[in-house]
Amino acid sequence: MASIVAALGGSLLRPEIENKHVWLDDLISIIRDRVAMGDRLGLVIGGGAPAREGISLVRPLIDDDYHLDKIGIAATRLNATIIREAVSEAGISVSGIIPSSVNEAVQLLEKKPVVIMGGTIPGHTTDAVAIRFAIAANAKKCIIATNVEKVYDEDPRLNPNAESHEYLTHHELQKIVGPAEHEKAGKSSVVDPIGVAEALNARMELNILDGRVSQRIREAMEGDYFLGTVVSSEGKI
Ligand code: UTP
Repeated sequence: MASIVAALGGSLLRPEIENKHVWLDDLISIIRDRVAMGDRLGLVIGGGAPAREGISLVRPLIDDDYHLDKIGIAATRLNATIIREAVSEAGISVSGIIPSSVNEAVQLLEKKPVVIMGGTIPGHTTDAVAIRFAIAANAKKCIIATNVEKVYDEDPRLNPNAESHEYLTHHELQKIVGPAEHEKAGKSSVVDPIGVAEALNARMELNILDGRVSQRIREAMEGDYFLGTVVSSEGKI
């Protein structure tokens, strides 16, 4: 039995691909299979489109990021509710509420094999929540399912020659994402630098992958080779 925590970026809920219900069906089947194997799963869902829309609508009126963050958090909780309801409807044993803190999530994971949550408090993103959840639940690793194939040393949209990495140490990832500071509400780097600093301290393995390809989430959860970036204390071994 293992505990695994995954951050699922909110953009995955509204993929540009046409058959988005296939992605959701795949996710449900991955969750079902892991629960059948006796694993415990914590899923932390990002805000995606509703977070971006809500924040950009009021940004001209609200100067303080603390308040904009609260809009982002509400969007993450909306998305977590969407996934929770779908998982519950599929007959999988999942916690009945969306916890609002990592402590609450850890307690729920002791009672139910699946806990689904969004953000907690202003000042970071759901990546940092997932990494804290993974550390507090003593999870084997934390999967960060986002919308890039691997971690690049620079933004590949800006530099087509940017180099991608299959293995990184926490320190190397920290150099790429920068210091542990909260970026503006709704803005994000490949992984939240606040979470990276905590993963480094706790030596928590991170698996960063393109969650739009559900098979990669499955492979990372099963512990097999997956296409993406493994971040560990040792780097490549
Ligand atoms: P996300 O976790 O979705 O951030 O939270 P993101 O990385 O920008 O987006 P995706 O989903 O990976 O594409 C959305 C926003 O909600 C606030 C932050 O402003 C964040 O940018 N937030 C979220 C918090 O303030 N605290 C939390 O615990 C979570």
